[in-house]
Amino acid sequence: MKKITIAIDGFSSTGKSTLAKQLAKELGYVYVDTGAMYRAVTLFAMQNNWVSPNHLDREGLIAQLAQIQLHFVFNPELGFGEMYLNGNNVEKEIRTLEVSSLVSKVAEISEVRAKLVEQQQAMGKEKGIVMDGRDIGTVVFPDAELKLYMNASAATRAQRRFDELQAKGDSVTYEEVLKNVTERDYIDTHRADSPLVKAEDAIEIDNSHLTREEQLQVVLDLVNEHA
Ligand code: C5P
Repeated sequence: MKKITIAIDGFSSTGKSTLAKQLAKELGYVYVDTGAMYRAVTLFAMQNNWVSPNHLDREGLIAQLAQIQLHFVFNPELGFGEMYLNGNNVEKEIRTLEVSSLVSKVAEISEVRAKLVEQQQAMGKEKGIVMDGRDIGTVVFPDAELKLYMNASAATRAQRRFDELQAKGDSVTYEEVLKNVTERDYIDTHRADSPLVKAEDAIEIDNSHLTREEQLQVVLDLVNEHA
């Protein structure tokens, strides 16, 4: 079967990364979590005091963008790549609610987007890639053979993210997570540069009532149709 590009977009916590990881494993494709890249840039900005809940030094961050090196390093035990920022594994640090609450502000900056989109396009040159994010089917790979747009209710999504954070021992409340999910949805869909929209040729999947296995089967059938 010929290798294709699979673009998965959608709101936060719609299960994009779970599906993308399953697909990559099943098909022997490379999985790229573009949200991790925006999160790593946000962590870098936090470490340099360029972003906090009530302040964003756009110019400071833009001037130092060249200092940010992002890499995915494949972890065979997990079966996917982990995010490295300037040589350090930052998987844990980028998944906190603090980073989640600041990342959409950083992702609004066009210079940040241009840098990350260039790297993402380079990673997809060989095809055989499944990439998830907000602008993959619209901006990064407008010619992707298969585009999916994932959806689920905000309450379902907040509950999923809350369960994940709790399992990691993070002491957050469901209300905090729901607030974060709703705020990010708003910023991600209303920003000027590359807002989250469903690509015209994307297939919408609402997984509020699908098990992971059912969803994977639906999408594998789509891959067979498009490859
Ligand atoms: O996918 P995840 O929830 O980890 O993404 C974190 C944030 O990064 C999103 O809320 C969005 O603001 C930003 N993002 C983006 N474009 C992408 C991927 C993520 O703007 N392709």
